[in-house]
Amino acid sequence: MKFAILTSGGDAPGMNAAIHGAVSRAQQLGHAVVGFVDGYEGLMANHQWPLTEALTRQHLNKGGTFIGSARSERFKEPEVQEYVAKRLQADGFDGLIVIGGDGSYQGALKLESHGLPVVAIPGTIDNDIPCTEATLGFKTSARNIVETVDIIMQSAESHRHLYGIEVMGRRAGDLAIWAGEALDADGIIAHREDFDAQACVEIIDASVAQGNRSQLFIIAEGAMTCHEFREAIESISDYSIHPLMLGHIQRGGNPVLEDRILGQYFGEVAIDQLVAGQTGVNLAVVDGRVVAQDIRATLASTKQEIYPFHFREDA
Ligand code: ADP
Ligand code: F6P
Repeated sequence: MKFAILTSGGDAPGMNAAIHGAVSRAQQLGHAVVGFVDGYEGLMANHQWPLTEALTRQHLNKGGTFIGSARSERFKEPEVQEYVAKRLQADGFDGLIVIGGDGSYQGALKLESHGLPVVAIPGTIDNDIPCTEATLGFKTSARNIVETVDIIMQSAESHRHLYGIEVMGRRAGDLAIWAGEALDADGIIAHREDFDAQACVEIIDASVAQGNRSQLFIIAEGAMTCHEFREAIESISDYSIHPLMLGHIQRGGNPVLEDRILGQYFGEVAIDQLVAGQTGVNLAVVDGRVVAQDIRATLASTKQEIYPFHFREDA
């Protein structure tokens, strides 16, 4: 059998591990995997890259995605989707593995509606896909945030600075919550409705009174910008805020253990699903196990925010 694989949307650490898992498993079973470069863009351009286990092994431990990713508006055109799905089938492809977020899942479903078997793997730092306890890249990204903010706060301590740091996550607050908890931030603004400027000022007052030399607020980009946070605090107090948008340092970096292991396992299971004739499924982690779910049902579900608090006995 011959399978296609692509990575789509924002890159996420662990995508390379997933490619490696799929290629290793396919090769072990005597099947071939062809990468399509730059996500759906490469699918449209028929930009193929035959993959071997020896090649993908070189990238397993690296962040990003070595076969490239993209956001493609043109792929949203129905006639383009039909053309691509039919061409892949005519070229002997028995299925496609899409590694990406919920937008990429939508694209996979469009191809499936034209007869191409598809399996989707959750790859996004945002952790914003419903019905899974993990998405590839989330833990690595949270690690990046924590380690970067640790560095910033050493300077903040020296100068008695107060930081409002905006982190990624699109509409989801998970990165802000997990990183903010790990950093013991003075405040975590995961959602707009969590924000109360007066309460933040009182938190700062108390922290200063306790002798702390710096204060830290972690802000999810979906809640507000770090500049909005600064304006809100500075307009009702004498405090001066350092606003900082952390940027793409959150997306790169070699994957942490969980993203490496989970990525490989997702890849292996994706091949097993396609070989078994499954289609229209996405992989997910439920109760710590990798399972296959119906993509349509997943997309129709509401994402539950996964709080780290369950580690605490008093939660
Ligand atoms: P993510 O997959 O991380 O959510 P995007 O939302 O940017 O990222 O989606 C990635 C790509 O998936 C888009 O650029 C587009 O090519 C494709 N895509 C998104 N939504 C659809 C859709 N409704 N129909 C077809 N393709 C889509
Ligand atoms: O979906 C991943 C993500 O990094 C989001 O957290 C962020 O909102 C967006 O992508 C940034 O996209 P870009 O890299 O295209 O600016």
